Amino acid sequence: MQRQRGQWKSSVGFVLAAAGSAIGLGNIWRFPYVTGTNGGGAFVVIYLICILLICLPYVFAELVLGRRTSRNPVGAIRTLRPGSRWIAVGGLAVLTALFILSYYAVIAGWAFGYIFKSLLAPAMPHGAFTASPIVAVPLFAIFLVLTVLVVIGGIEHGIERWSKILMPVLLVLMLAVIVRGLTLDGAMKGVAFFLKPDFSKVTASVVVAALGQAFYSLSLGMGAMITYGSYLPKSANLRISGAYVALFDTMIALLAGFMIFPALFALGKDPASGPTLIFEVLPEIFKAMPLGGLVAVFFFILLSIAALTSTVSLLEVPVSYFVDERRWTRSRSVWTVGVIAFLIGLPSALSQGAVPSLSSMSLQGNTSFLYIMDFVWGNLSLAIGAMLLSIFVGWIWGVQRAGDALQRGSSTSERFVRVWGFFLRWVCPAFIFLVLLSLFPAGGRLLTLLGLS
Ligand code: PFF
Repeated sequence: MQRQRGQWKSSVGFVLAAAGSAIGLGNIWRFPYVTGTNGGGAFVVIYLICILLICLPYVFAELVLGRRTSRNPVGAIRTLRPGSRWIAVGGLAVLTALFILSYYAVIAGWAFGYIFKSLLAPAMPHGAFTASPIVAVPLFAIFLVLTVLVVIGGIEHGIERWSKILMPVLLVLMLAVIVRGLTLDGAMKGVAFFLKPDFSKVTASVVVAALGQAFYSLSLGMGAMITYGSYLPKSANLRISGAYVALFDTMIALLAGFMIFPALFALGKDPASGPTLIFEVLPEIFKAMPLGGLVAVFFFILLSIAALTSTVSLLEVPVSYFVDERRWTRSRSVWTVGVIAFLIGLPSALSQGAVPSLSSMSLQGNTSFLYIMDFVWGNLSLAIGAMLLSIFVGWIWGVQRAGDALQRGSSTSERFVRVWGFFLRWVCPAFIFLVLLSLFPAGGRLLTLLGLS
């Protein structure tokens, strides 16, 4: 069984792969639109606080859980607490990864399709593009197959090497788009929207969105970092690696904000227009650039690659479960999960106009099957998973044992472990709990009574 398990070649290789998982549509597609619908600057401040105070301590917990046990999320918990109910939390993580993969690959398929659309049908509206089942479904299928092929072939030689070259290119291209956007007339209004916090706009749902986005962007709460951590050698320095991943990911999200908002205000568009934001705004910026058509093609190629390094990690979570726990071969696991993800994802792919009943359904302000899936799995489930996993590591496995495991490979001080333990045991679960509570009417009233909302 161990033969099927790989190991990262180096810490740099791990950081690249984990950053590849973290950096994706969440940064470039989701962060700008969630910022836009949640009022701008104040959301960004809350997002950064969530990254620093909740996600950063928590990311070490997932990594150490994986590295200590060399197992998938279910196996990791089973190894530490055999026969306990906590194993269900690992199960939730695996399920969440599968469900996120199912709709994430739909959006990644659009990004991939935009490579060709930019060339062949630049004038076609985004809505018409995604509503067409003969466009959306094949693109979704192609993207899943690409993901399957990479995961079957092993991550180390394919995706790790590619990310090393292509992530820096994505960065340079983003900088070029930012410069173009900032030099448009009226761009400064966008900078102000993005950077000037107006705390009067903060409501409980803004905090929920910020926390969910922080987990989503760092690939936390559903076992990706447990799984990636499980391929780490015992000598790796988890603290430094985890901190780098968080830093790179946050940097790219902020750059995406600078890429979108100045141009958006200059072009007179509505920042709260929702999930279609980048697909509608970016092509207009490209149009205003010299060699814009070429830049568009190149940009969507790189966005697809950033998404691919994320779908790879989403697929890897259930695959590692089947390889470790069910002793399936890697290729059987990969194809099976790929087919299941396709079937679960079909309603999402058809929910952007192709099937009216799927397109018009709504939950907590999220309209269409796809965005309901994003809210339930990409927001709520991550927060619940992260709350339970931080309780598991902080209280059940215990800070002392987790701290000892964390210290392997780095000169982590006792004081660091104490502070980390405090965040893991108290701050992370309590904060997440309060945020989740605020989603429910009765919980919201209770928080108001207590003066917490
Ligand atoms: N972090 C990815 C992004 O920002 O695009 C999304 C994601 C990937 C979430 C992998 C969860 C995950 F396991």
